[in-house]
Amino acid sequence: MSRQILVTSALPYANGSIHLGHMLEHVQTDIWVRFQRMRGHEVYYVCADDTHGAPVMLAAEKAAISPETLIERSRNEHLRDFQGFDISYDLYYSTHTEETRQFAEQIYLRLKDAGLISVRPVEQFYDPKREMFLADRFVKGECPRCHAKDQYGDSCEVCGATYAPTELIAPYSAVTGATPERRSSDHHFFRLGECSSFLQAWTRSGTIPPAAANKMGEWFEAGLSDWDISRDKPYFGFAIPGTTDKYFYVWLDAPVGYMGSFQHLAQREGLAFDDWWGVDSTAELHHFIGKDILYFHSLFWPAMLARAGYRTPTQLHVHGFLTVNGAKMSKSRGSFITAADYLAHLSPEHLRYYYAAKLNAGLDDIDLNLEDFTARVNSDLVGKYVNLASRTAGFIRKRCGGRTARALPPAAEALVAQFRSQADTIAQAYENGEYSRAMREIMALADLANQYVDGNKPWEIARDAARQEELHTVCTACLELFRLLTLYLKPVLPAVATKVEALLGVPALTWEALDATLLDQPIADYQHLMQRIEPIQVQALLTAVAAGAAAALAAAPTPAAATPAATPPKAPPPVAETPKAPPPIAETIGIDDFSRIDLRVARIVKAEAMPEADKLLRLTLDLGFETRQVFAGIKSAYTPEQLEGRLTVMVANLAPRKMRFGESQGMVLAAGDGNGLFILSPDSGATPGMRIK
Ligand code: MSP
Ligand code: ZN
Repeated sequence: MSRQILVTSALPYANGSIHLGHMLEHVQTDIWVRFQRMRGHEVYYVCADDTHGAPVMLAAEKAAISPETLIERSRNEHLRDFQGFDISYDLYYSTHTEETRQFAEQIYLRLKDAGLISVRPVEQFYDPKREMFLADRFVKGECPRCHAKDQYGDSCEVCGATYAPTELIAPYSAVTGATPERRSSDHHFFRLGECSSFLQAWTRSGTIPPAAANKMGEWFEAGLSDWDISRDKPYFGFAIPGTTDKYFYVWLDAPVGYMGSFQHLAQREGLAFDDWWGVDSTAELHHFIGKDILYFHSLFWPAMLARAGYRTPTQLHVHGFLTVNGAKMSKSRGSFITAADYLAHLSPEHLRYYYAAKLNAGLDDIDLNLEDFTARVNSDLVGKYVNLASRTAGFIRKRCGGRTARALPPAAEALVAQFRSQADTIAQAYENGEYSRAMREIMALADLANQYVDGNKPWEIARDAARQEELHTVCTACLELFRLLTLYLKPVLPAVATKVEALLGVPALTWEALDATLLDQPIADYQHLMQRIEPIQVQALLTAVAAGAAAALAAAPTPAAATPAATPPKAPPPVAETPKAPPPIAETIGIDDFSRIDLRVARIVKAEAMPEADKLLRLTLDLGFETRQVFAGIKSAYTPEQLEGRLTVMVANLAPRKMRFGESQGMVLAAGDGNGLFILSPDSGATPGMRIK
């Protein structure tokens, strides 16, 4: 049965850059959305920038631009970052729009008519210089407990005490430095307590992950208090109807932005808004959010919707927080990685896969360990997955007339059937947000496919003219397995999947393509599908992040209200120890001498350590048209996993040498000065067998 599914990610604040924590959420959402589209459902995915609030207003003032200009700039940057990670929104909008204003006003007025809005005075700190009320975070002063200076109005970063801003000793405005006064003004409240029984029932109806529902039990026990939904002017936001000086608090109109954005999309696509948001809607509504904003999405939001006559969310998908190398992302520690920084050094697909391999339906924090990230991506995606095609597609092209065989070898039929039989398990895992389980199942299949390749050794069959038919069917089987793996991985790796579809000459893979076959079909030239991660790329990313943080610290004026002393970012260690003086240049040779050396691009399809040799690795090198065995003295510098799948450069016409372990049929090139060894690799785009001139 085809489902109608509307999906959202939380709306990022306009006054900040997109970082890898946001990306965790948007990648998680995008994988789910792409999976549902592949299943043939009617899916819409909307998101927007969350634009309102005092911080945006003040940031715009500081930059001497209008808030409208600021939010437009942010939105463009955010869009660029999300597109860089292939996030497939149907619309990325803004909350500062007519659509969102209308729904916010309408919902407020309906709540008011239902007697759910009350008005009463609230006393707050007021900045007489800037003439504005100060939210807690804009008041600073001395901690009443430990007497640390320059602490925020709600809690002390030194001793951890929490308090009201009025308890601060010698408070001052973080906006102007003025001493704040206490003033009173009328605030509008949403009487959430009136919705308590509705909310208790709603949260127990399977809409929220069990771990989150427990948390909510605590909130219900503590009792739901009224929610302050208004702010005094000056404020960047929507004016409250019937007032001249009050605005909706940003968190009132932020979730309404989901509706406003969908309304805009509905107009564009000719959809009926009420089919999706009306009380009788049979469509599904899924919100992906972090655990820090559960309160807003599980209490205020459903209560607002229900009491204003709209449908409530079908499900909240709640995730934990991203940590980097085991710690909270921190600018001062040089681990606050923005999406743009990441994209300048690494591929989006790498991170998409790593996140998928770590995500499940729980609320636990998720760690991006950069070493584990490098090893995992290289071993799973390059070593196990991409290699399947790179090791076999070339044979079909060059040795089998460019078409797949008409039938598979009988032994492979069973394997293909086994691949298909995992489809439901994998689909269930995606559906339930258990992506790590899905990746485990898929990689287990990839292991089987590699066993099949290793058991049949196409590169050996290729040497035997009498076994051409076998080469053809074996390579066809490998590509069929590769096609199925690609289908399963497509929600995670959309860009790779597109390249594979072109390679195999198949239409865009959907779940229905499970039952298709790849027999008797033309195959295109193998194009590079995915680069491995070089540790040096990660180093370069961290260096850039640390340099950016250092520059920001240096540029920041040292105001009275200094942030706690930040430890200077630690530069990553240099890649190699101080190099020795390089050896002198060798004797001059002519171009003829040089051209006698046949240098070729080769792919290391296999690297094996041999217990008997402490310096050597046995490499199996694929030249596209033939395979070589080479013993290389690089064991001290590389593990086999680091090598498998990557391209390098070899001397192809070096006379074979008999060694203790067998014949070495060439030599790979590496740079070294006694302190380290670095094997050469061509730039991306080069393919095995190319001659180096
Ligand atoms: N603007 C609000 C959301 C309004 S939704 C109607 C907001 N913005 S945010 O930019 O601070 O966060 C947006 C989303 O990113 C939230 O779901 C939040 O949990 C998530 N994350 C922000 N930092 C994160 C990590 N370090 N790790 C994982 N998710 C994080 O809240
Ligand atoms: Zn303190």
